[in-house]
Amino acid sequence: MSFFKTASLVNQYFFKKKHFPDLNELHSLNLSKPEKRQLLTTIRNALFFEWVLKTYFYQFYKKKSLSFGLSVLMIALQETLLHKSPLFHVSKELKQTLGQLKLSWLYPLVLPFFKEIREFDFYWPLFLEEISKEPLIADLLTEHPGLNISFLFRHPPFGVRFEHIDDLELFLTNNPTSKKIPSISNFLIAAQSSTELTALFNEGKVSYQDAAAFSLYQALPNIAPKVIYDCCAAPGGKSTILMKKWPEASFYLTDIKPSRLESLKENIDRFFKTQKKPSVIQIAEHDWSDEPFKGEKADLILVDAPCSGLGVTARHPDILWTRNNENLIKNQHLQSKILDSAALLLNAGGYLIYATCSLSSVENDKVVELFLKSHSDFEAISISLSLGCATLYGSQILPTNEHDGLYFCLLLKK
Ligand SMILES: C[S@@+](CC[C@H](N)C(=O)[O-])C[C@H]1O[C@@H](n2cnc3c(N)ncnc32)[C@H](O)[C@@H]1O
Repeated sequence: MSFFKTASLVNQYFFKKKHFPDLNELHSLNLSKPEKRQLLTTIRNALFFEWVLKTYFYQFYKKKSLSFGLSVLMIALQETLLHKSPLFHVSKELKQTLGQLKLSWLYPLVLPFFKEIREFDFYWPLFLEEISKEPLIADLLTEHPGLNISFLFRHPPFGVRFEHIDDLELFLTNNPTSKKIPSISNFLIAAQSSTELTALFNEGKVSYQDAAAFSLYQALPNIAPKVIYDCCAAPGGKSTILMKKWPEASFYLTDIKPSRLESLKENIDRFFKTQKKPSVIQIAEHDWSDEPFKGEKADLILVDAPCSGLGVTARHPDILWTRNNENLIKNQHLQSKILDSAALLLNAGGYLIYATCSLSSVENDKVVELFLKSHSDFEAISISLSLGCATLYGSQILPTNEHDGLYFCLLLKK
């Protein structure tokens, strides 16, 4: 398989747009299975390959005009270090593709490196050591000494939530390699995507949900709320947890983005194929950073706020391509505004749940601290999540091989 097509896509997505393609984009690229593997593995590990280029080929790396050629080298590194393709194959493709790009002069300069290349396990710890010095990652490591930053780069786990125990048991009998995630619920498993799961998904019998997101279930207070808001609800993963727990409540599901509300509608329609539907569900576009929603007061409000996504970089590797500390402060202002508006709509005795998929206290405990300072009628209630560690006000789940990283905090309006 030639490196040309995938290298041109690496150049486009990593060097030019700094954007990881989503499923729809990938579909429209019409790639063969091996091309898709080559592209995704290369850009998922792009920061690592970029570090190899910077370290061993600095004289070429610093020339931004060479980004297509550098993309070819990234593919060659991916093929050698991760896919373990033999040197004769990699060098042949390298020579040919560099020739197509009129960069034949580069080939004899890089070939000696490929001839003497060491194992992936030699380079990876050196890369991690280097990236740990970057301010944003260094701050995360200071805050969470237990954070294994390798997990920021690994392939995302595939969590599947079953709505009925019978379907789950039958599936586990047919697919013995799938694994239950019992620390949270008997209904969640780690599996491989398959046509059987797709059929169950279309019938509304399963949802694809990460174990960390499903931990919301453990943070819910033991009350019977009549009115529930999910402010930043799309695409609805956590709304369905709330609706499963409290099908008798009235629900207001809002989001700032109409296109994301369309996905939310599809997701909850699918979910209701097998679940009791609450009698009142209102779905509306709303910007909570502006003002509270004009509706009835609530007994429970979930704010699953927009954030840096540092806990879900495995799904969105481009978060790390454009990483910086200033964005966290901007997010903190937005998160605080959304919480302030949500607080206005909550009844006394009601609960506000603040969640993010961030690992940074700037977007987590600090936002709660600022909120509590200006809302003396609220207090943080301690929660215990089996995947999380207690923080000053909430619980932080760190990413692992099995799940994403998320933060939850439960606040009571006195
Ligand atoms: C972390 S996602 C929510 C995920 C969702 N709760 C789930 O579990 O599927 C954050 C959402 O907040 C929305 N959002 C961003 N700014 C907002 C605002 N000012 N008001 C309301 N929603 C907002 C985004 O469009 C995005 O859908």
